[in-house]
Amino acid sequence: MSESKKLFNIAKKVIPSGVNSPVRYFEPYPFFTKKANGAYIWDADNKRYIDFCNGYGALLLGHRRKEIIKSVSNQLSKGTLYCTPTESEIELSKLIIGNFPSVDKVRLMNTGGEATMTAIRLARGFTKKKKIIKFEGCYHGAHDSVLVKAGSGSAHNGISVSDGGLDEVSKNTLVVEYNNIEDLQKTIRKNKDIAGVIVEPILANMGLILPEKNFLSDLRKITKENNIPLIFDEVVTGFRVAPGGAQEHFGIKPDITTMAKALSNGFTISAVGGKKEIMDLLSPRGKVYQASTFAGNPISVSAAISSIKTINKIKNKLYSKLERFNLLFSTALDDMATDMKIPHQINFTASMFQIFFTNKPVVDYQSSKNANAKKFQKLFQTLLKKGIFIAPSQFEVVFLSDAHTQTDLNKTLDAYHSALTSVKN
Ligand SMILES: Cc1ncc(COP(=O)(O)O)c(C=O)c1O
Repeated sequence: MSESKKLFNIAKKVIPSGVNSPVRYFEPYPFFTKKANGAYIWDADNKRYIDFCNGYGALLLGHRRKEIIKSVSNQLSKGTLYCTPTESEIELSKLIIGNFPSVDKVRLMNTGGEATMTAIRLARGFTKKKKIIKFEGCYHGAHDSVLVKAGSGSAHNGISVSDGGLDEVSKNTLVVEYNNIEDLQKTIRKNKDIAGVIVEPILANMGLILPEKNFLSDLRKITKENNIPLIFDEVVTGFRVAPGGAQEHFGIKPDITTMAKALSNGFTISAVGGKKEIMDLLSPRGKVYQASTFAGNPISVSAAISSIKTINKIKNKLYSKLERFNLLFSTALDDMATDMKIPHQINFTASMFQIFFTNKPVVDYQSSKNANAKKFQKLFQTLLKKGIFIAPSQFEVVFLSDAHTQTDLNKTLDAYHSALTSVKN
């Protein structure tokens, strides 16, 4: 019996479902990880995988990036938690503000979900209104007001509204189709009580779904005309698609931004930033409460400072390399699936892509759900056997990192060939 199977049998007894986050589970049991380095991750049986899950997008610079390890090691010798302000927090805030011109002030916290929860509370506090508009399939964390028709693990597990979640909360969340501006306009016309609109500017939680031309600019225009704060959830896209996130990539300024993941390349930190007049509503001087023991902890802050500095230093090479790799890979994969006469779609941008087994374009929640998820599972399982680790769900994304080499990608493409053969048969 494999070490992972043995560990999973024990884990099930002490951890619900044996995992600490739902998408980590896959059939028949997930592999247990021993270590990771660069582009690779090793399981408990010492099998090496090329990692394309990459901490669900966090590891833009690869595992154990030397600059980050150095600065965290340095901080470890000075203490791990102070719960008092530090000069490093100022340095990090200035770096974030420097990369995101829409951000005048920024508050640090720990997880993406915490950041979106605070962003929504800020929008409500600012407008003194109740309702939030979110888009179908966008995932903003595991809290009640956004766990409505959400993507990621909740779509994977077929959960539209979680048991234990309050209807009183979710009824204040209005859900609109992604890429459907008319639906948004209709919803705004019908409801006077809208506190904010939250969106993933690139939808990376239903597989990968790109915003159609003008979708984001129309969204910005309409929210501005109606005095509705626009929240860009850049938990995935921040630092990953550009040093200033999707808002830099598309040239759009939201009112509030959330970020996490690639902000620190694998440490626990998130941030909410935005216009001064909104951010100044946060407690203690403002009346919108937000607090956390671990917020701005010196370990995560040192990792984030080092990540942003590294990204800013190598940005000219980094993004063009990742885009080139992605274009070559996605095009080759597309050709391969076409030659094999497998109905498919490939959506890709920046350092992210996903394949869907369907002959219809994947542009929203429903078209993503209509793709053949069973075939995707076959693809995932064959890739895994071949030493390629992608996230185990159709509703996640394949993430490239700076640590991947051309050789890794060639090997991965060979593995996709075997995986597509298994899908066809
Ligand atoms: C776009 C987006 N927002 C928010 C979150 C929630 O982040 P966390 O899992 O750190 O709470 C995620 C997680 O994948 C995400 O993809």
